[in-house]
Amino acid sequence: MNWQCPGDADAVAAAVVAHIEAAAKEAVARRGRFSLVLAGGTTPLKAYHLLSQMSAGADNWHIFYGDERCLPADHAERNSRAAAEAWLDGGRIPKANIHIIPAERGADAAAQQYTQILEGWLPFDLVLLGMGEDGHVASLFPGQVHDPKAPVVAVHDAPKPPPDRVSLNLPVLAGARACLVVITGAAKRTAVEAWQVRHADLPVARLAKAADHLSVLVDKEACHAPMRPPV
Ligand code: 6PG
Repeated sequence: MNWQCPGDADAVAAAVVAHIEAAAKEAVARRGRFSLVLAGGTTPLKAYHLLSQMSAGADNWHIFYGDERCLPADHAERNSRAAAEAWLDGGRIPKANIHIIPAERGADAAAQQYTQILEGWLPFDLVLLGMGEDGHVASLFPGQVHDPKAPVVAVHDAPKPPPDRVSLNLPVLAGARACLVVITGAAKRTAVEAWQVRHADLPVARLAKAADHLSVLVDKEACHAPMRPPV
C-alpha cells in the first residue's frame, strides 16, 4: 500500500488529479478507454473542481460511482448530483459515458440494474474512495455483511443518512487496476489511527488487505501523528 501525506487538503486534491491523469493516460494507451469510479461525499469535491477548471476528460473516459444514496435523481445530496455540479455537467465527458446508479428506484432494484451496467467494465481502471469517520468506504459500513459474490449490493439501515444506499462491493473496489482512498480533515483522525495504529477491522482496512494496488492520500489534519505506513 502506497501511503502519501502531501500536505493540506489542497495538496491532496492536486495529488488526486495527478493520479487520475496518470491512470487515464495509461488506460487509454493500453485499452483505448478509461474507466473511473467516483467517490461520494465531500472529500473529493476539491479535486472535481480542479478537474473542471482543467476541462479534464475526453470522449473515451467513462464514469461510474462507488455508491449512491437512495434519493430522487436530482436531489442535492445525491453523489451523482454533487459530481455533476462540481465537474461533469460542464465537462468533456459525453453524458452517455456517465453511468449513474439509478438509486431513485430503491436499493434492491438499483443494485440489480447497476450489476448489469457494470458488465464488460471490470476491472475498473481507477476507483476513488473517501473514508467515513467510522472507517467505511463507499457504502460498506462496519458490521454490515454482504454476499461477497455480489458485485453491487443494496444497503439498508446505513448509519450515515440516508439509510438506503447502493454500493459497489469490496471485491469490485479492491479488484480495480488502481484504488485511491482520499482522507482529509481532523474528524477522520480517529478512524485513521484505529486503522493504522490499532489495526481495527474496518471496511477501509479490509479493502487495503484485499487490494493489490492501493494508494492512500491523507492530509496533515487527518494524518495527525507521523505514522509508519503499515507493513
Ligand atoms: C457517501 C460516500 C461515503 C463518503 C464517506 C466520506 O455517500 O457519503 O460515498 O462513503 O465517501 O462517508 O464522506 P466525506 O468525504 O463527506 O467526509
